[in-house]
Amino acid sequence: YPIFAQQNYANPREANGRIVCANCHLAQKPVEIEVPQAVLPNTVFEAVIEIPYDKQVKQVLANGKKGDLNVGMVLILPEGFELAPADRIPEEMKKKVGDLYYQPYSAEQKNILVVGPVPGKKYSEMVVPILSPDPAKNKNVSFLKYPIYFGGNRGRGQVYPDGKKSNNTIYNASAAGKIVAITPIEKKGGYEITIEKANGETILDKIPAGPDLIVKEGQNVQADQPLTNNPNVGGFGQAETEIVLQNPARIQGLLVFFSFILITQILLVLKKKQFEKVQLAEMNF
Ligand code: HEM
Repeated sequence: YPIFAQQNYANPREANGRIVCANCHLAQKPVEIEVPQAVLPNTVFEAVIEIPYDKQVKQVLANGKKGDLNVGMVLILPEGFELAPADRIPEEMKKKVGDLYYQPYSAEQKNILVVGPVPGKKYSEMVVPILSPDPAKNKNVSFLKYPIYFGGNRGRGQVYPDGKKSNNTIYNASAAGKIVAITPIEKKGGYEITIEKANGETILDKIPAGPDLIVKEGQNVQADQPLTNNPNVGGFGQAETEIVLQNPARIQGLLVFFSFILITQILLVLKKKQFEKVQLAEMNF
């Protein structure tokens, strides 16, 4: 959950560029983000993000039963950019945003937004309304090209913040030996696997309800050999893009420059026509 990231990491993007969700959501799946190439200051624009997956698949839930996947995401905007206030979002954009409630990552980091978990069937594509900063009011912002980082996830994680495995991951033998007993756990589901080591000692590996067993009683296993399949059907992905904070004066200057070029070209053509007339008049037959 994004809240796990908010509680455990002050900055969701590590120095090497990895977004921290990947620490617990171990599988990798693609995501996409689209933003305008450039925006003017103090303007509301939309970022469209996609967390695609096959809506038919079910995943292992915390109780071991199967269910639908949820999605969530973190969007790291340049400093000064933030979620557009409700009164500035145009009606048309409001419809696209729907009931999603984006939150700042922390009180200090309003430029980082999180949302989720929300039902994946409905929100595999999300629209984020963003307000660009105004360099005239915010001295930390300049008219530049800035990077935007996005991390999106579908499906449950493999590790809890305390380091414990979730039931949505692979379980391995904690020692080499022979499996002497596999006992189903009553009510909660899952199995207790007794492995007898070469020295006669026995150890007990507990498997929660969720992953499917791939070993049998009497089988010899190596240490760390998988005892179950990997039930995880979800995954996390990250993407990045760029946006230009554009100075309107530059665009106006460019337009003025273009009009001068246009006038100059027309004048040159007119001059040429005039000269042709002179040539005609001076011609001797
Ligand atoms: C569940 C997203 C960070 C561990 C989920 C779910 C979403 C999600 C959408 C629900 C999946 C479902 O029900 O289908 C994210 C995002 C993160 C993030 C976007 C980063 C901003 C983390 C971190 C950890 C973590 C840092 C570990 C410390 C888990 C676990 C679950 C889960 C264990 C399953 C919980 C349960 O059902 O018992 N996450 N997550 N996540 N997440 Fe994350």
